[in-house]
Formats: sequence, C-alpha cells, structure tokens
Amino acid sequence: MSAIAKRIELCSTDDVAPGTALKVETEGLTLAVFNVGGEFFVTDDLCTHGPGSLSEGYLEDDIIECNFHNGQFNVRTGAVVAPPCMVPVKTYPALVVGGKVTIEA
Ligand code: FES
Repeated sequence: MSAIAKRIELCSTDDVAPGTALKVETEGLTLAVFNVGGEFFVTDDLCTHGPGSLSEGYLEDDIIECNFHNGQFNVRTGAVVAPPCMVPVKTYPALVVGGKVTIEA
C-alpha cells in the first residue's frame, strides 16, 4: 500500500498578515500557519510542552514563543530554541498555490 499525499488547503495568504499566525483546523489536524515576512510556515498548533496554542504565541522573525511558559521554537524547522520545551514541534512543508497556503499530508 502506498500512501498518496494529498494537498490540503489551509487558508488564503491574505488571512495571515506578516508577523502573525493563524490557527487552522482541518482533516483532523490542528495547525498553526505563520507568515514570516511573506514566507509561510506550518506547524502543529499544540505546543510540545503542554496546552499552549502556538498560533496564540508571540512571533518574532521565525521564532514562535509559546504564551504558556515562554518556550520557543523555530517555525522553519520545528527545532526547540528555548526551554522548557524539549521536543521539536512537527512542521509541514507549506506551498502557496493560487493565493492559498497549502500543505501535503
Ligand atoms: S505549553 Fe508551551 S512552553 Fe509550556
């Protein structure tokens, strides 16, 4: 059995202003879409440390700070930048197609 990746449309590029994030729930996933100076990045919305919603955190360049305990992740790679987070957050390669932010899942 081979899994065929399908493209999931998340939002319009206009829905996420530069320097902000949007929470998107679709296909059983809860995702955070980040606009870093016109480049889009997508991660799981749930912080790997606890109940924080990363789309509600503070985005500075490509670093998102969770508003629960101020842990930080790089939204490009999902890597932990600051504790107390220990586990990287999952990222999804984002592609803009016809003005929509999409991922393959
Ligand atoms: S829940 Fe995000 S840093 Fe604790």
